[in-house]
Amino acid sequence: MYTCCRYYGLEGLADHAGDTSFSVEVNHFTFGPGCLREAGSHARALGMRRIALYTDKLVRDLPYVATVKRSLEAAGCSVEIYWECEVEPTDRSFKAAAQFAIDGQFDGFVSVGGGSVIDTAKAANLLATYPADLMAYVNAPIGEGRAVPGALKPHIACPTTCGTGSEVTGIAIFDLLSHQCKTGILSRHMLPSRALVDPDVTHTLSPAIIAANGFDALSHALESYTARAHSAKAKSYDGLDGAKRPMNQGANLWSDMGARESLRVIGQNLVRAVNDPSDQQAKGAIMYSALIAGMTFSNAGCHLPHGMSYAVSGLVRDFKPPQGYPQDQPMVPHGMSVVLNAPSVYRFTGDAAPERHLEAAQFLGAETRGANTNDAGEIVAAKLIEMMRAVDFPNGLNAVGYTDADAEQLAERAFPQQRVIKNAPRDVSKATLAELFKGAMRYW
Ligand SMILES: [Fe+2]
Repeated sequence: MYTCCRYYGLEGLADHAGDTSFSVEVNHFTFGPGCLREAGSHARALGMRRIALYTDKLVRDLPYVATVKRSLEAAGCSVEIYWECEVEPTDRSFKAAAQFAIDGQFDGFVSVGGGSVIDTAKAANLLATYPADLMAYVNAPIGEGRAVPGALKPHIACPTTCGTGSEVTGIAIFDLLSHQCKTGILSRHMLPSRALVDPDVTHTLSPAIIAANGFDALSHALESYTARAHSAKAKSYDGLDGAKRPMNQGANLWSDMGARESLRVIGQNLVRAVNDPSDQQAKGAIMYSALIAGMTFSNAGCHLPHGMSYAVSGLVRDFKPPQGYPQDQPMVPHGMSVVLNAPSVYRFTGDAAPERHLEAAQFLGAETRGANTNDAGEIVAAKLIEMMRAVDFPNGLNAVGYTDADAEQLAERAFPQQRVIKNAPRDVSKATLAELFKGAMRYW
């Protein structure tokens, strides 16, 4: 199948030293225009009667919350709205959202919003279902890393942006204020019970949001495709205790399928979706690819562009995000903080799996016929830069306020993100991270 010896095919899996099996767990999802109106039907099927609906103050005035609420109430459910989810959630905002859930004694959750809202609902559901301090469930070593004990209450996730894929992941990310870092909770029990992915929500997204969201989804797919192969990663569990196989298990045959399709669809549609707001077909395609890429990275795991992004967003000084984002404080939108690192990363990882990098560039639409495998990383980087320029994206980390003098501090902040950093196809030291940040400062 793949000529690169580091990867795998249907033949010869047993030859590898790592985990010879992989697991797939995906949630029920519905995709299509108008499907938010099905919320009541799905709530009834899940036995929900008394529902907490999570949203934020940007989304609450858009039509989607009203559409979902009307559908839930028509199905006989009572609905209480919590609209104080934060765009960059923190441990403080997670705990406030959880208190609402605990006080309300709800039997089901619905989230209508971007990844931050959906993540907040996941955390509130967890803490209301299995009460404990938030840090008990947070990834070790920052938190205790306690396993989520079992199934949560039903949760229907309705994304109103087109990038995070949170509706199909078991991850909830937040800023831990005392440590000034992003961390999170990761459990298959936090996968929403159902996702309603309605491409009509893209009508109200600004071009800048579609660009940042689309690049986030692109990066989920590209990082999954170039992640360390599951068969090259040592087992992190004993013997046959495969129920403990981690969700970020590395690239595998199933995640490759999702990555290929997402990259192909994003390569064909992202620039159109950003530059022509009337192109609803292209915007819907990005919504679909974000869903598929979400399932893909939930299964394979991301690597360096995401691991580095948490430092880029966490150390922001005075960069104000483009139109469509909250303007009350400096912020680098998530998808932007990810993809600004990406060309620098792929120039570094290309040698580890050149065929895979060439294939990925080809899925995105790059011409790779006759390409030399030595140039694989550069070809991926060039394609990403071409797409960034085509949508008038910031030119590297310089453009969001960083200089070479910040590289050490960025590396210091990113290095603890070992869960994703170890998923990269090459080993990475703190010094390497600093070099990668330097390489991401300016691209053209
Ligand atoms: Fe992401």
